[in-house]
Amino acid sequence: MAEPDVRQRAEDGTKIADVTISGLSVQYDSSRAETLALSDVELRVLPSEFICLIGGPSGCGKTTLLNVVAGFVPPTAGEVSIRGNPVQSRAVERGMVFQEYALFPWRNAWRNVASAWRPSVCPGTSCASGLTSISGS
Ligand SMILES: Nc1ncnc2c1ncn2[C@@H]1O[C@H](COP(=O)(O)OP(=O)(O)O)[C@@H](O)[C@H]1O
Ligand SMILES: [Mg+2]
Repeated sequence: MAEPDVRQRAEDGTKIADVTISGLSVQYDSSRAETLALSDVELRVLPSEFICLIGGPSGCGKTTLLNVVAGFVPPTAGEVSIRGNPVQSRAVERGMVFQEYALFPWRNAWRNVASAWRPSVCPGTSCASGLTSISGS
């Protein structure tokens, strides 16, 4: 029988969430308006859970929530953590597929991916070797 993944169990046997969102609020302030995009959001995503955020009208905060998890937008209050580590900035463990057109059309697919590669995020690997290991080719 396979060994259980110890990362997924706390000492008392309860499952540790992969993503924990607690008391999350985001307010955008501009010279013209203050917009409370998220207010006191609570969410736990357990290991192996697959969730879709499809509910709510345009402007209810779906993209803002994903942007906070990705580390693009800082919380005004509350916290997002990944396996117990607070999200403080973007990281290679979290990918984002944008709803807007977000490619460089003058580059091919490989060079679009390579444009995001920085040695500082994966020390010791070159762009070519890193991308080759991801794509398997
Ligand atoms: N960068 C921003 N600056 C100011 N207001 C914003 C910004 N991004 C989103 N908003 C506002 O925050 C609210 C939530 O937006 P958003 O998260 O994009 O919602 P959804 O993805 O559900 O359509 C909207 O009222 C939107 O106008
Ligand atoms: Mg959106």
